Amino acid sequence: MVVTGDTETLAHLLRIRRSIRDFSAREVSAELVDAILDDARWAPSWSNTQPYKIAVASGDLKERLKAQLLARYDAATKLQRGGVLGKLAAFLTRSKALPDGDFDTRFEYPQELTPRRRATGFGLYSVLGIAREDSAARNRQMRRNFEFFGAPTVLFVFVRQELGAYSVLDAGIFLQSLMLAAQARGLGTCAEGALGTWAGPVREAFDVPSAYKLLCGLALGWPSDHVVNAYNPGRADVAEMLIPVKRG
Ligand SMILES: Cc1cc2nc3c(=O)[nH]c(=O)nc-3n(C[C@H](O)[C@H](O)[C@H](O)COP(=O)(O)O)c2cc1C
Repeated sequence: MVVTGDTETLAHLLRIRRSIRDFSAREVSAELVDAILDDARWAPSWSNTQPYKIAVASGDLKERLKAQLLARYDAATKLQRGGVLGKLAAFLTRSKALPDGDFDTRFEYPQELTPRRRATGFGLYSVLGIAREDSAARNRQMRRNFEFFGAPTVLFVFVRQELGAYSVLDAGIFLQSLMLAAQARGLGTCAEGALGTWAGPVREAFDVPSAYKLLCGLALGWPSDHVVNAYNPGRADVAEMLIPVKRG
């Protein structure tokens, strides 16, 4: 049965959800996290395989993960400055700065998508008052990823790889369902691919089955009134997305 008003509610939720990159200190109760997961579990998936698992951290555990990830991020930043020799030394000493994620989080962007990526990045820095050439400030903002942007709760999304692109697709549908379930309750989220960079600390903290691979994280909490949360990078028009019929 279609209830009048649902269309508006969904359209509204889809449009007002934004990535939240600053959170208030207010905790998210375990009951609320459960309620969001309980909604999101109705996401569709290939043959209903639901090929994902979620690890939830808050309180002391979240703080511990934050400290461990920040230590890795800081070491990696230092490594970048150390040039080729620094990287070689890190490789030989098996430095914790080296990414140990299950998926590569750094890739060459196709030329066609690069303008969108750059516009999104520069738009974010502009809202934050960060000049393009201010690499120190950009680095500080990047570092915020590993503080989960001050969120009281962080989720880690794992997928089985055997279904190839389709399990990742399933996890993506689940993630959006989760974000909308949170949005409907006034909570804010930020999907974080950055949290796929280092899997070690997360695997040490949780009993993750070895077949499940760390895909990304998700910061979850109550949005603060920081200006960064007003950032809306917009979207391409539908016309730009549509593939035209071949002529002739
Ligand atoms: C899979 C995925 C990974 C993302 N990773 C990050 C991230 O590591 N750090 C970050 O600040 N934003 C991250 N984002 C947020 C995107 O930048 C954001 O969704 C996009 O710019 C559109 O903005 P909006 O979510 O506010 O509409 C990620 C989003 C997705 C879906």
